[in-house]
Amino acid sequence: MSLPQSFKAMVVRETPENQFVREVKQQSLKNLPPNEVLIEVKYSSLNYKDALSATGNKGVTRNYPHTPGIDAAGIVAASSHPAFEERDEVVVTGFDLGMNTSGGFGRYVRVPAAWVLRLPGNLTLRESMAYGTAGFTAALCVLKLQTHGLTKESGEVLVTGATGGVGSIAVGILAKAGFHVVAATGKTDQNDFLSRLGAEQVISRTETIDDSGKPMLKGRWAGVVDTVGGDILATAIKSTRYGGCVACCGNAMSADLAVSIFPFILRGVSLLGVNSVEPAIGDRLLAWQKLAQDWKLDLSGDLVSECSLEELNSKIDEILAAGIRGRVVVNLSR
Ligand SMILES: NC(=O)c1ccc[n+]([C@@H]2O[C@H](COP(=O)([O-])OP(=O)(O)OC[C@H]3O[C@@H](n4cnc5c(N)ncnc54)[C@H](OP(=O)(O)O)[C@@H]3O)[C@@H](O)[C@H]2O)c1
Repeated sequence: MSLPQSFKAMVVRETPENQFVREVKQQSLKNLPPNEVLIEVKYSSLNYKDALSATGNKGVTRNYPHTPGIDAAGIVAASSHPAFEERDEVVVTGFDLGMNTSGGFGRYVRVPAAWVLRLPGNLTLRESMAYGTAGFTAALCVLKLQTHGLTKESGEVLVTGATGGVGSIAVGILAKAGFHVVAATGKTDQNDFLSRLGAEQVISRTETIDDSGKPMLKGRWAGVVDTVGGDILATAIKSTRYGGCVACCGNAMSADLAVSIFPFILRGVSLLGVNSVEPAIGDRLLAWQKLAQDWKLDLSGDLVSECSLEELNSKIDEILAAGIRGRVVVNLSR
């Protein structure tokens, strides 16, 4: 493949006043890190973590200037590793991509071969990014609950932050797998969206926050996918039925968790942590296979929107303000 000297990317730079400025500009290929697989990125996607990287969160990205984008799907442009050849269609999510390694908000990335997956069968490059890290994380959450013993006969499953990226895909795949899904959202006008995804009931975010101070509440949930943390996660744990399980993956509300040990020792509730960054290869392959096959969602409708690199700037502000519904695919060709 003939390679360009430079390529278009979103670059976040830090000013002397510690402000973080986002610009779309040309970057040189030779400045990408010297890894094994050079990928021409066709699509990326917007995740909450990208917005943190794009606004100077040093817990995510230490050094600027930097190109965010924890997801990338595209075509191998050059490979020094025998596992990949030019023109292979591939997907990269997680690891260090977009954190301290130049990420998918640029037309090219160069990454270690160990980060690269072949595009799963039955998915297009665009569909893989409609899922992206958010969908992959939702799949890992559902697999973890199932491994713990949750079945569709177990009872109701709560999804918090339900209109967000992880939340909306979790609602969709749980419903597709036959679970009774209750979606909790702060967006009071999105009931129809969540019902179309398969939620049997939509409840307001305020209903999922208990401030009574009680150590346990009436047991309702057989399982929970929590994307927000804080008081909502604490209330979900207190409201989980005997033997139930709670998958915890996000902190959109808070990273704190104030809960007593009683739900764990009196009801046998299990709190299951989910990390999408470096899961074992078996879990990675299984999650993508599920997303591509049994749990495949309709990714053509209003679950997924698309933007160009230039249009991404305002989407980053929107996701930080909890204003995005579903998933945003970034089309690098536009
Ligand atoms: N563990 C992992 O490996 C992993 C992987 C991916 C994501 N994450 C984390 O999971 C979380 C969700 O990621 P995402 O990409 O899905 O983000 P997202 O699209 O922004 O979704 C987050 C959703 O949470 C709800 N929310 C936002 N702020 C809130 C607040 N202050 N209080 C209560 N609810 C709030 C909103 O949903 P409603 O309006 O519907 O309530 C929002 O749409 C983030 O914390 C992210 O860092 C973790």
